[in-house]
Amino acid sequence: MCSQRQKPCLALELLLLFHLVWPTSTQGPSEHRVTAISGTNVCLPISNLPAKYIQLTWFYTTNQKILEWESNQTLLFDSEFKGRVSLGQNQNLCIHNVQKNDSSTYILRVLTDSGTEKEWHTRLEVYDPVPKPEIEIQKTQEVDNRCHLQLSCRMPNQSINYTWYRDSEPFPTGLQNSVLDIIVEPNNYSTFYTCQLSNPVSSKNDTVYFTPPCKLGRSSAVAWIVTWLIVMVPIIPGLLWT
Ligand SMILES: *[C@@H]1O[C@H](CO)[C@@H](O)[C@H](O)[C@H]1NC(C)=O
Ligand SMILES: *[C@@H]1O[C@H](CO)[C@@H](O)[C@H](O)[C@H]1NC(C)=O
Ligand SMILES: *[C@@H]1O[C@H](CO)[C@@H](O)[C@H](O)[C@H]1NC(C)=O
Ligand SMILES: *[C@@H]1O[C@H](CO)[C@@H](O)[C@H](O)[C@H]1NC(C)=O
Ligand SMILES: *[C@@H]1O[C@H](CO)[C@@H](O)[C@H](O)[C@H]1NC(C)=O
Ligand SMILES: *[C@@H]1O[C@H](CO)[C@@H](O)[C@H](O)[C@H]1NC(C)=O
Repeated sequence: MCSQRQKPCLALELLLLFHLVWPTSTQGPSEHRVTAISGTNVCLPISNLPAKYIQLTWFYTTNQKILEWESNQTLLFDSEFKGRVSLGQNQNLCIHNVQKNDSSTYILRVLTDSGTEKEWHTRLEVYDPVPKPEIEIQKTQEVDNRCHLQLSCRMPNQSINYTWYRDSEPFPTGLQNSVLDIIVEPNNYSTFYTCQLSNPVSSKNDTVYFTPPCKLGRSSAVAWIVTWLIVMVPIIPGLLWT
């Protein structure tokens, strides 16, 4: 996905990685969390590695080894990762072209030369960028000058957060769902409603425009007037001259 502007893209990914890596307080000092976009390359960071160690093993899950390092030799195990992993600087695990199912808690086990074992846990979460939503107008029903609106932004099979905005302000959390179901009156309608899809790596949105008392459209009335003016203004003097 980053083929054309390799360098800024790489810088961005690194930046993203650094921002998204933080120790979680609940699971001890050695647990890290990394978020990545599918298709990118990721290195799982390790800090406070002992100065001297004999053996070092990276695991995908507690019972699946990925690779082992011992006296300068790296052994790759037969796993989904063969051909896409390497040991980076500081013995961190670098995974090429991560996929959603690479999401896991990775374990690094280190045998020090004093014979003790130490363990690091790193949680990797891989996400696809969210798709572009399209608001579906499920209902616009006018009753006594009130307008019942039902807008859907649902995306199947995605772990996504939905945020609805009226004009540019988010609705209260109680109304945040894949479907927005509201009643508006002449004193509290908004000129546009936006649905934003987001996950930890991306966000996209779609907007519909409201015309009172109870009409929704894909473009705003204001935009129409502006277009009309741009088209008509040069024509009007022409009309006056004839
Ligand atoms: C491991 O590699 C480093 C640098 O390449 C070297 O200095 C060191 O002597 C090697 N150690 C062993 C045990 O081969
Ligand atoms: C992830 O999914 C791909 C295909 O989508 C499959 O080939 C691979 O074995 C899976 N990896 C793991 C670790 O389950
Ligand atoms: C989405 O989920 C439904 C049921 O949860 C399943 O039947 C369907 O095959 C899934 N579609 C995709 C594209 O994964
Ligand atoms: C607009 O006002 C009416 C009447 O007070 C209320 O029932 C409705 O929930 C309000 N709509 C919004 C979107 O706040
Ligand atoms: C949705 O939002 C909650 C709260 O901000 C967050 O913890 C969660 O990770 C988000 N989920 C996704 C898929 O973005
Ligand atoms: C919707 O997306 C556009 C660009 O894609 C962005 O400028 C705007 O801030 C977004 N709006 C909301 C409410 O997230």
